[in-house]
This record gives sequence, structure tokens and C-alpha cells, in this order.
Amino acid sequence: MYESILAITGPTSGIGQAAVKVLVKQYDRVLLLCRNLTKGEALKKALFEINPQARVDLIECDLSDLSSVKTAAATIHKQVNHIDCLINNAGMVSTTKRESSDGYELMMATNYLGPFLLTHELLPLVMNSESNQVIVVSSGAYKFAPMKRPFFSPKSFNPITGYGKSKLGTLYLAQELHEMYSQKGLKVTAVHPGMVKTNIGRDNVSEWLGNLVFRMLDPFFVTVEEGAQSVVSAVRHPEIYAGIYSDEGTVAAVTKHGSDFQMRRLFIDATLKELNLIAL
Ligand SMILES: NC(=O)c1ccc[n+]([C@@H]2O[C@H](COP(=O)([O-])OP(=O)(O)OC[C@H]3O[C@@H](n4cnc5c(N)ncnc54)[C@H](OP(=O)(O)O)[C@@H]3O)[C@@H](O)[C@H]2O)c1
Repeated sequence: MYESILAITGPTSGIGQAAVKVLVKQYDRVLLLCRNLTKGEALKKALFEINPQARVDLIECDLSDLSSVKTAAATIHKQVNHIDCLINNAGMVSTTKRESSDGYELMMATNYLGPFLLTHELLPLVMNSESNQVIVVSSGAYKFAPMKRPFFSPKSFNPITGYGKSKLGTLYLAQELHEMYSQKGLKVTAVHPGMVKTNIGRDNVSEWLGNLVFRMLDPFFVTVEEGAQSVVSAVRHPEIYAGIYSDEGTVAAVTKHGSDFQMRRLFIDATLKELNLIAL
């Protein structure tokens, strides 16, 4: 009998955790790609409580580290021969200039380069499934700044534009996937989940400052369950959301830098070169 399989990054907190707690009810098997296996084990137990029938596998994957991404993808290839839905959800905000182990700006490495490589490695499994879905959790932050060379290790650092460019990258990834594979059946959605009260950006500021900022912005934030709903809807309703940008569940046009197709081409080609790949 066919086994429906979901793979999700960043399931140990925030939007990813809330989404997988809903989605575990509809898949036979769930692959949790986590950088922290202790948190992964706790989540696995919680998912068992929700759906004891679902098989849940933990895969160690630090998206900021390209070798970890390759190892995770190789492990997955040994375990399954298809993935119905890949959710690229994991992401982070850094308020200070930091480098990944491969020497890239940390947000660009974690939010874009790692997920790009992971998607490249897992795409054959997605295309070998019944559902052929990729969901990219992007952000309205894609509008914050245009993409600029040098793409992956910029000389100056600004947390807002740095985060924005990494999320613009995820949007370009979704657009490229749609352009290249939708004719072959791939269903891709880029999702902006809204301003969601999660842990994002909190691990590199003091608890005091994090709480203050979150308290000030509180009226604008939605709960993790509400934020996760746009991801869940994209998974459940490809007939509405495939090939589009979902802004909190509303089908929305991509504007500003998101529609700079020339820059997208340059950026994707530069990514392929950087990662030694021929095509997505
Ligand atoms: N919150 C918002 O308002 C908002 C708005 C727009 C878009 N988004 C996007 O939504 C997604 C989820 O974020 P969130 O708000 O739910 O944040 P979160 O609560 O901080 O959760 C982020 C998840 O990503 C994982 N992660 C971070 N760095 C990683 C790495 N190097 N390798 C593997 N996993 C890593 C975290 O793992 P640990 O549990 O180990 O930390 C966690 O599971 C992100 O892509 C974010 O950009 C969020």
C-alpha cells in the first residue's frame, strides 16, 4: 500500500511545530529534519500522542552547514523512495553579523543556501510521489531590500535587509521551481505566514530585549496556530495555492524585488555555481 510522506524542516518550534501537529493526522509517515535531536525526540513523542499510527523519523540536519544538509539528504534517500510534500520552513534572524561554517552570512546560509541544496537533493523523491508538493515558508520581508552582489557574503551587514534578502532568495527558489517543474506536475507554494509570535530572532538577543520587542509588537502578532494555518492550507489545497504566493492564506501578487526576474536569473545561476550544481 502507498505510504504518504511529509518532510519538514524546523519542526521543533513556532510555525513548523504547530503545522506538523496538524499535518501528522493526514500522513502515514513524517520526516522531521531537526538540528537539535533532543527537541526532535520530544516532538516525536508529542506527535505519537496525536497520531499513534503515523511513523515519525528524526533526521539530523543543520541547514546552515552544507555538509550536514548533504548527509541528511543521503540518509533520507536510504530510508524512502518518495516524499509527497517537502516543507522548507526552518529559518532564523540574526541581529549581529555572523558566518556559517562554510563562510556565508548566517541568515543567507540558513534561510536560503541550505534549503536550496536540500530541495535540490530531495526533488527527485518529491517528483516520485503522488502529491509532488513543495511548500516554501518565505516572508513579506522579501520586500525589504533588492538582491545585491556579493550575494552570499555581503561586505556590510544590516539585520533587516540581510533577513529580507535571505527570504527574497526563498521566494526566487519557489518561483524557479514552479517555472522549471510545474509542467511535470510539481506544485509549489511560497507562504507568508503573517507576523507570528514565535522564537525567531530571540536566541541572539537578551531575553529582556526580546520580551520588550515582542511586547511592543504584540497587538500585531498572530498565534503560532494561526500562522501555521497558511502552511496547512497550502498543503491541503494545492488546487488553490499551487504556483502562487500565499499572504496569510490570501492569493497575492508578488511585487517589488519579488518580480525582478532578471535578478532572479542572476541569483539562481550564482547559487547553482556556488553549490557546484548544474540545475535545480
Ligand atoms: N515568525 C514570523 O513572524 C515569521 C514571519 C514570516 C516568515 N517567517 C518564517 O517562518 C519560518 C519559521 O519561523 P518561526 O517564526 O516559526 O521561528 P522559530 O520559532 O524560531 O522556529 C524556527 C525553526 O527553524 C529551526 N532552525 C533554525 N536554524 C536552523 C538551522 N541552522 N538548521 C536547522 N533548523 C534550524 C529551529 O530549530 P530549533 O528549534 O533547534 O531552534 C526551529 O525549529 C522561518 O522560515 C521564518 O523566516 C516567520
